[in-house]
Amino acid sequence: MKRLIKNGLVYYQGKFSQQDILIVGKRISEIAPSINKPADMVTDATGRHVFPGFIDMHVHLRDPGQTHKEDIVTGSRAAARGGFTTICCMPNTEPVVDNAATVEYIKRKANDLGSCKVMVIGALTKKSEGKQIAETAAMIKAGIVAVSDDGHCVQNAKLKLNAMKYVSSFGLAVITHAEDYNLAGKGQINAGKVSTMLGLSGMPSLAEDIIVARDILLAKSAKCRLHLAHTSTALSLQMVRVAKEQGLRVTCEVTPHHLLLTEDACIGFDTNTKVKPPLRTESDRQACITALKDGTIDFIATDHAPHSDFEKEHEFTLAPYGINGLETAFISLFDRLVLSEIIPLEFLIEKMAVKPAEFLGLNRGVIEPGKEADIVIADLTKSTKIDTDNLLSKSKNTPFLGETFRGTICETIADGKTTWKAAPCDNNAG
Ligand code: DOR
Ligand code: ZN
Repeated sequence: MKRLIKNGLVYYQGKFSQQDILIVGKRISEIAPSINKPADMVTDATGRHVFPGFIDMHVHLRDPGQTHKEDIVTGSRAAARGGFTTICCMPNTEPVVDNAATVEYIKRKANDLGSCKVMVIGALTKKSEGKQIAETAAMIKAGIVAVSDDGHCVQNAKLKLNAMKYVSSFGLAVITHAEDYNLAGKGQINAGKVSTMLGLSGMPSLAEDIIVARDILLAKSAKCRLHLAHTSTALSLQMVRVAKEQGLRVTCEVTPHHLLLTEDACIGFDTNTKVKPPLRTESDRQACITALKDGTIDFIATDHAPHSDFEKEHEFTLAPYGINGLETAFISLFDRLVLSEIIPLEFLIEKMAVKPAEFLGLNRGVIEPGKEADIVIADLTKSTKIDTDNLLSKSKNTPFLGETFRGTICETIADGKTTWKAAPCDNNAG
């Protein structure tokens, strides 16, 4: 199958220019200002932006075991709708992904029924209980790309050190969800003026900072690659900055919600703002933006954490933590950070596609001849309203419900195949 995408404004070699793209089978075969070759399908992308498919390092697919919240089919469909062509799923399922059979189950189901490439992150410890190291070698054979106890945090420094030493022997990164349980306590939101005002118990920044400091030191000692999930405080970012300056192999990510929202979003007791780590202060949010711009933060990851209505429609203290993110990530960041000129569009693409592809060592994330044909066609003049009726995820727990963002993902192509198409964007020439 040959497919030609013509006249789009293509993110190519780090900037936007008008290019035609020829896809042959699963790969990009040619890029040039004008390609006039026969093709089975020609798409006129005039007036559209064309990006490499986005890559999300941090997704909760809830499959196996919590498929009332999401499953591999709905989660990967939501990903495709958001412009993602590759996602990595976290192991806090039921059972936990701490063994080869569960890794194989996810990979097989995603391969047979999924709408994007799904890479699996295995648990660091058995059942993510922080007591015994999981069977990393067997999971690596089954194809995991990193290890993490995300959603949980190993409290025992000695065990974490041993786990890092073991994992580093395979060259994999350990991904840390930084939360000191004693300091976090039963904190519902960030500890600060809003928690005091609302009478909710608070989770202090210190609960994150102390684990970030500890794990940087442990990773240095273990000579292990450390990736910090959803960094959210000014101080943890400062520590990452220093670690990088010292040449340590430390990387980190930020979520769209920590870039766009603060603890003030919790004032209305909307349980869709309840998340770990919590939405922080405006100065933390600004620190996230600064760290994203100066390269301290390597890339953006959604931490897509779907929860059903019946779980979120509770008193704030009883609702689970988590924000649904795949379908809102790009358009919310485009609308709020690019249109307001805080970051350029090229930079957003770099942080959502190029950098995560580099982190994972994939032959994706850029539009170049020879790369896998993972391509997003977007209309950045057309707005998208976020409401419960049009989200493809099984869960609707986004704090952006009711908001309208500029930007619509018209089509997502993964490995040369269409995985999402928005009907009103139709612009086909044959
Ligand atoms: O808010 C969160 N929800 N943070 C996490 O780290 C885990 C996630 C979940 O699995 O629901
Ligand atoms: Zn987490």
